[in-house]
Amino acid sequence: MSKMKATPHINPQGPIAKTILLPGDPLRAKFIAETYLEDAQQFNSVRNMLGFTGYYQGTQVSVMGSGMGIPSISLYAWELIHVYGCEKLIRIGTCGSLQPEVNVFDVVIAQAACSNSNFINQYNLPGTYAPIGSFRLIEAVRERAKANGVTSHVGNILSSDTFYNADPSFNDRWAKMGIIAVEMETAGLYATAADAGVEALGIFTVSDSLVTGEVTTAEQRQTAFTDMMELALPLAQI
Ligand code: HPA
Repeated sequence: MSKMKATPHINPQGPIAKTILLPGDPLRAKFIAETYLEDAQQFNSVRNMLGFTGYYQGTQVSVMGSGMGIPSISLYAWELIHVYGCEKLIRIGTCGSLQPEVNVFDVVIAQAACSNSNFINQYNLPGTYAPIGSFRLIEAVRERAKANGVTSHVGNILSSDTFYNADPSFNDRWAKMGIIAVEMETAGLYATAADAGVEALGIFTVSDSLVTGEVTTAEQRQTAFTDMMELALPLAQI
């Protein structure tokens, strides 16, 4: 294989698959590669944003850290799509629940992602763009969640630029509009994928409830994480 060219953030030392899973934490990407993939080979180490490519049940799949926030995930997604040919980008992460029926450890599937970010202004649209996940991928994940007996919620989420917001009514105002959960990346991923005409999806486990104040321990999160991985990995095969 001829050496692939480097971008400002990725210097590939091996192949990158068409399907890539994007956890926020690069060490999580390493764990996924070691735990779930066969013949995993590291392809990136720039800024310690570790990326790996291996096989899941015979299908090539990559996994790389995305970092936190819309700017970080979006620049990696852009390079993965436009330079390395990725066609299916799956964010896997955690979110905070904004609704009483969305419990810790449940899975959230982001049908759409609102944001308080200005990221989408770059597209110069004459109105408000609604970033949505791939319906094909949503349907596939939802079906598998049902088959696996995993409680999942499909709905509108919030990709916030702020983890600590100065306005104490911030979460409540989004919750009132039916937003089911908050995280910090998916709206940027969805817009970047839409602009390029490729598929994207955000899948999360609920790590904390902003309704009840309930939080989970790292140990507890591991089980929920396994449930989510069993929904995300088969997407490489469709
Ligand atoms: N806010 C933003 N992002 C998050 C949260 C949260 O409460 N929980 C997990 N990711």
